Amino acid sequence: MIVDSNTFDHCLPEVVAAVQPLEQAEFVEVPVGEDCKSVEIASQVWQAMIESGADRNSVVVAVGGGAVCDLAGFVAAGYERGVRLVNIPTSLIAMADAAIGGKTAVNLGGVKNPVGFFKMADIVCVEPSLLASLPKAELKSGAFEVVKTAAVADPELFSELIGGALEPFSAQAITCVAEIKQAIVKADPKDHDIRHILNFGHTFGHAIEAYSVHGGMRMSHGVAVGIGMAMAMRLSVLKLGLAREVYDSYCQYLTQRIEFPQYTLRDAEQMLPLIHHDKKCAGGQVLAVLLRKPGEAVIDVALSDNELLDTLLSGMAL
Ligand SMILES: NC(=O)c1ccc[n+]([C@@H]2O[C@H](COP(=O)([O-])OP(=O)(O)OC[C@H]3O[C@@H](n4cnc5c(N)ncnc54)[C@H](O)[C@@H]3O)[C@@H](O)[C@H]2O)c1
Ligand SMILES: [Zn+2]
Repeated sequence: MIVDSNTFDHCLPEVVAAVQPLEQAEFVEVPVGEDCKSVEIASQVWQAMIESGADRNSVVVAVGGGAVCDLAGFVAAGYERGVRLVNIPTSLIAMADAAIGGKTAVNLGGVKNPVGFFKMADIVCVEPSLLASLPKAELKSGAFEVVKTAAVADPELFSELIGGALEPFSAQAITCVAEIKQAIVKADPKDHDIRHILNFGHTFGHAIEAYSVHGGMRMSHGVAVGIGMAMAMRLSVLKLGLAREVYDSYCQYLTQRIEFPQYTLRDAEQMLPLIHHDKKCAGGQVLAVLLRKPGEAVIDVALSDNELLDTLLSGMAL
């Protein structure tokens, strides 16, 4: 079992009580957050597995957020050329996204996720009650990933979420998005086409997240994606005829939860290369996921630099 200090304290007792065979499992505690996603930590876990006599019939069990799941998948893919993997996600991001779909990775040389494998978990146990101890900021960040999946795949869920009828961290919403993600991954396991729709909000989101580090006020991934989705929806209204009411209601939902950043021309010009560096660019053009309507995403929409700058500078104004 791979845990970090938070999930060791808050989740392990509940998990072990619920899954009796885990009482006999060996566990390795890894550093919290991105610090566990390294080749060095993976190597330490492999070493611990060798010392405890793990063989090709052993099972790696992740009990943690997206970082622990990413590491555990990497470890399971490499050990004995691949052993079984069970993900027990404990954060909202992991339940809705990271634990499902077989993408695993570690960070290297200050770059996020350059080395990894596709390693599908044999079982993913989504147990929303594990979120009880998750810090509020982490819940808020994960909520936008839940909204994202609903926006591209389930119009009814999307309107329930942004209308406030359903909380993104409710068992119902989590189960729904976990099933949607599973179905999308099944249709496109290696991320060639349809799976790209899950990148909605991420073209701007990644740049917003990276740029927030320069300002010294690091924005969480989910919040940056939440803002990125508003920008992608604004472009969707202009380019694909997304109904303005959808955009307006999403902006209302967003501004009740976070402060929308106002960027200057200088900010926007510095963010442009960050958008171009994103892997969703091809042939110098930025390709983004936009929405024709909720549940109907369009992948690979080419965006010019003028459109990108205009979007970054316009705030929420249409
Ligand atoms: N593989 C994928 O498809 C995929 C998709 C999305 C994100 N990710 C990765 O996931 C990571 C982000 O996910 P995350 O935000 O869950 O990261 P995380 O694992 O760092 O968890 C966030 C924080 O919450 C704590 N935590 C987790 N569950 C808890 C609980 N139940 N109670 C108390 N504390 C708890 C963790 O210790 C950590 O401090 C990134 O590394 C990202 O690259 C991967
Ligand atoms: Zn994301």
